[in-house]
Amino acid sequence: MSDLINRPSISLADVVAARERVRGAIYYSPCPRSQMLSALTGQQVYLKLENLQMTGSFKERGALNRIAMLAPEQAARGVVAASAGNHAQGVAYHATKQGIRALIVMPLATPLVKVTATRGFGAEVVLFGANYDEACEEATRLCAVEGMTFIHPFDDAVVMAGQGTIGLELLEQVPQLEAVVVPIGGGGLIGGIACAIKESRPEIRVIGVQTSRLPSMLAARAAGRPVTVEPATTIADGIAVRRAGDVTLPVVERYVDEIVTVDEDEIASAILVLLEREKTLAEGAGAAALAALLQRKTSLNGAHTAVMVCGGNIDVTLLSRIIERGLVQDGRLIRLRIHLLDKPGALAELTLLIAKYRANIVDTLYNRAYYGVNLGDTTIDITMETRGREQVEELLAARGIIVSHETVRQWALKFGQPFANRIRRRLPRVGDKWHLD
Ligand SMILES: Cc1ncc(COP(=O)(O)O)c(C=O)c1O
Repeated sequence: MSDLINRPSISLADVVAARERVRGAIYYSPCPRSQMLSALTGQQVYLKLENLQMTGSFKERGALNRIAMLAPEQAARGVVAASAGNHAQGVAYHATKQGIRALIVMPLATPLVKVTATRGFGAEVVLFGANYDEACEEATRLCAVEGMTFIHPFDDAVVMAGQGTIGLELLEQVPQLEAVVVPIGGGGLIGGIACAIKESRPEIRVIGVQTSRLPSMLAARAAGRPVTVEPATTIADGIAVRRAGDVTLPVVERYVDEIVTVDEDEIASAILVLLEREKTLAEGAGAAALAALLQRKTSLNGAHTAVMVCGGNIDVTLLSRIIERGLVQDGRLIRLRIHLLDKPGALAELTLLIAKYRANIVDTLYNRAYYGVNLGDTTIDITMETRGREQVEELLAARGIIVSHETVRQWALKFGQPFANRIRRRLPRVGDKWHLD
């Protein structure tokens, strides 16, 4: 291992050569400074918008570098990849553009939109296996049978060098660069970028981000070799890799300064921030780097920092769930369970009160028999849109609304202790009309 660390598989020269190979065929993505995100994170943030690549992610860079290095007889036989996502589309697009046959093996459960997109870029798609590992085995078998060339999504020095072209662009686009934050799956992206940056400007910090559900690179660093972590699901499917690469690990060991993790809610909230504040659509893996900065997980302190927004291929149904959860987190969508007298006009009075405080009711569920409601009383669950927690506070200060201690405890967790304390101060006024829990 230590010998490999001293002799990493790629060098700056490989990345520079890769850049010449991909020049003109890969979009030189913009890297604008974000004033809003700089204020929110306490760093000087520059977003590298790789979600704007033709296939929606940076993966084209490594795939194209690999394809461009095929010998003519290899190109004539075609290429094979196993992937449920961005790598599939990158290989499909650049191979078929050059008239090279592309065969992609995807796990059986791959969402139809991804299968359709990959076919749309001209690849033949074979659906096989319950997961990536099984699809990968089938891809290797097909390679042997058909004499085609396998393109690995990350554990290949040529692929890594292709991803590293982003590092060269960052050095040009942000001359004052002091740090780069990069999501890690198998480590090809960060390996390439870190090599390009550290061999050009060693003082620039390179920070990796993993999902806390699959911290395979952290585990590999701790063990000194790739180890397989427990399977887990995550909204950041692009970085859901259970085992770091044998080729990528030594490069990461040598050049990456720090690796941090982010959890699912932190990633979801970063997706929402990018969408609302920047009008930028990122997938889970594409928002992980920003999540680390928003949550102040890194050791950076006001640095000029490039943040990789490395992919934007997100399922719209997942996106809509993320938006809804984000609104709940912010208190902009709130559900209250209110006990009231079961008599004509009681609900009208309550909705009038809600209207007075300009909250918008989006859903109600009325029930008399559940939640231990007293005979003669009823319970209503009201879901409302609000402008945020201030408006919720105003509404709850309205005469007659009483909140239970359990509700306050939950709000303390969600909105913070000061908010809960302000509500708690009103608790002794029990005995009014409505009771909430
Ligand atoms: C959007 C996105 N971000 C990050 C990564 C991680 O790249 P790597 O596996 O090279 O670490 C991937 C990999 O597919 C990805 O699709």
